[in-house]
Amino acid sequence: MIEGFTFDDVLIIPKYSDIPSRKLISLKTKFSRRIELNIPIVSANMDTVTESEMAIAMAVEGGIGIIHRFMPIERQMEEVRRVKRAENILIADPITIFKDATLGEALEVMRKNRITGILVCDAKNYLEGILTSRDVRFKKDLDLKVKNIMTARARLVTAKKGVSLKRAVQILDEHKIEKLPLVDKRGRLAGLITASDFKKISQHQNAAKDKNGRFLVGAAIGVKDGAERAEKLVKAGADALIIDIAHGHHKSAIDLLKNLKRKFKKTDIIAGNVATPQGVTDLIKAGADAVKVGIGPGAACSTRIVAGAGMPQLTAIMEAKKVAKDIPIIADGGIKNSGDAAKAIAAGASTIMVGNLLAGTKESPGEYFIENGAAVKIYRGLASRDASLDRQSVDKNSERQDREPEGISTKVVYKGEAKKIIGALIDGLQSGMSYAGARAIKEFWQKAEFVKITENGSKESLPRPNQ
Ligand code: XMP
Repeated sequence: MIEGFTFDDVLIIPKYSDIPSRKLISLKTKFSRRIELNIPIVSANMDTVTESEMAIAMAVEGGIGIIHRFMPIERQMEEVRRVKRAENILIADPITIFKDATLGEALEVMRKNRITGILVCDAKNYLEGILTSRDVRFKKDLDLKVKNIMTARARLVTAKKGVSLKRAVQILDEHKIEKLPLVDKRGRLAGLITASDFKKISQHQNAAKDKNGRFLVGAAIGVKDGAERAEKLVKAGADALIIDIAHGHHKSAIDLLKNLKRKFKKTDIIAGNVATPQGVTDLIKAGADAVKVGIGPGAACSTRIVAGAGMPQLTAIMEAKKVAKDIPIIADGGIKNSGDAAKAIAAGASTIMVGNLLAGTKESPGEYFIENGAAVKIYRGLASRDASLDRQSVDKNSERQDREPEGISTKVVYKGEAKKIIGALIDGLQSGMSYAGARAIKEFWQKAEFVKITENGSKESLPRPNQ
């Protein structure tokens, strides 16, 4: 029998450091073979953690969010598109409306897509006008036609397709406008540049972006409809696909992985979850571009109680790293605080995947509600009874709901913006690295050593204000 440890069983041994300030410590890392991040934090592909809003918040900070798969394929595609559109200097394919639509319809499209103005085009995509918040400000009659209230083409400031960004900013500034539509030689819409995107982008220096300057985003797929979902999600712009299977060291996961690797040459495929070196090796052999490690450490997991299976997470990560070599390990589950995050990275993970800590934030799916005077949101395991009942109501062919659940559903206190939680994780991680004398994650892997602690050591580790 082997011995396994988890985060609370160890501490990182403090070592000599000559780093003048923690701010000089780089958290740059690899999410997968070809995807780089500026911070090693990934939001979990759970239906109470990551949809587009969370994925945007993660990318702004330099990490990545994985859109969960418990929604119809079309909706998951839309969530991916929202992230890719979110902060894009050039919106290549702007949302448009016909001039015969009503104000009510236009407002609905704007609300759904969270945009403040909409371009008006004909069926051949010729630009006819724009409807901005200024145009609709005092209009109460929702049956008004767009053509009667829009700013028409003749009064519109536009630029040619291919305009330089520098020139585009000048035009926005000179005309004091918010939106600059781009048109081709014949007057067809060819893109949109907005002033608000410029403002936001200059504030988000550390954001995680693709080579076209769009936010990075991943999307989860399951085994059953994985091939079809994958195809559509890649079309929608997903940078990585994550095979989401509780027991990833399984023939069906490996077959799907091989199939996807044959099909998609440009998209990284992440596989998991596994908890042994053999599991990691088999997934890498099948082509995995990163491996997700963690069986049962998650805050909403009851796998270890129900199935008696799992592996203490720190050992799982350390053993995984030994065989994974250059393929990144994603340490998934069980991160309770920044100290755990530092230990997971020190143990060899390239990134941590976080569920519970990010649940209950403003950006997690669902609204908060008040219970016993406190604002709360739902956080639930994907294998919880509530989650499988919800899935059954949408898809009768989803897994049986009468199985013993391997996850729990709970309420977490509303935490406000995810940025705060991510900031605290970053601070703690940099601090942990500085205690090990490491300026970068690779150096952290080399220098970090753990000490195993006793029960008394564990008690000593906790603040004790009233001892
Ligand atoms: P944390 O601790 O950050 O963990 O909340 C998030 C990870 O937990 C896993 N997960 C589950 N594991 N039953 C399980 O055994 C479940 O119902 C369940 N739901 C989520 C998942 O790996 C996630 O990223």
